[in-house]
Amino acid sequence: MRITVLTGAGISAESGLATFRASDGLWENHHIEDVATPEGFARDPELVQRFYNERRAKAAAAKPNPAHEALAWLAREHDLTLVTQNVDDLHERGGSAQVIHMHGSLVRALCAACGQRWDAPMVMNVTDPCPFCGKQATRPDIVWFGEMPYFMEQIWEALEQAEIFAAIGTSGNVYPAAGFVQHAARSGAECIELNLDASANAHDFDRRILGPASQTVPEWVASLG
Ligand code: APR
Repeated sequence: MRITVLTGAGISAESGLATFRASDGLWENHHIEDVATPEGFARDPELVQRFYNERRAKAAAAKPNPAHEALAWLAREHDLTLVTQNVDDLHERGGSAQVIHMHGSLVRALCAACGQRWDAPMVMNVTDPCPFCGKQATRPDIVWFGEMPYFMEQIWEALEQAEIFAAIGTSGNVYPAAGFVQHAARSGAECIELNLDASANAHDFDRRILGPASQTVPEWVASLG
């Protein structure tokens, strides 16, 4: 079966990584405009590099949970396109070979001058020279607010071909990801939401499974056969 899955911060919550909009979420302790916009990076690159260095260290110390592992299993049994809004690498470390990181990845670095990408060091400094052009214009390869998400053509196509679309651990607050369910539904997919509580776009789904992802995702994957 052709299945497209979108994951959000909720799938990594039980691995110990903070989500964004919970009471103790990342956006409660940082201003988005300071650490997740190109303007914030231009204003204070040290602050931004520190913010992502901290998240990179936390992600490296975290372990994949049964929800990540269940999606890796799903890819062996079905034609799965796995899209994530997350920038951690827990899907890969949980066994997923192909993961579409639409918001970029903590383990990748980008040169704002020449556009080249490479594996990010654990700690990135503003003064690090780009390994390709030598300029001190390196940044985390993260898609910030106001920037275009990556791989959108591939994602729209996967949504149009999906027989099942599942959104896992995302609050449905940020577009274009929050609009994926409508795109999949228009193409006839059955749309299901697996979340701790109803998301902002819950009404767009055919059905919902509420509960912690480490329990609901393995059960859902098992139910698909
Ligand atoms: N199991 C399942 N769902 C969970 C769990 C859990 N253990 N814990 C939390 N959730 C759910 C919450 O109910 C919430 O709906 O995960 C969702 C997390 O929502 P957000 O914190 O808004 O994260 P996300 O939807 O991934 O944010 C999307 O916004 O700030 C940007 O770029 C950032 O990629 C991020 C995007």
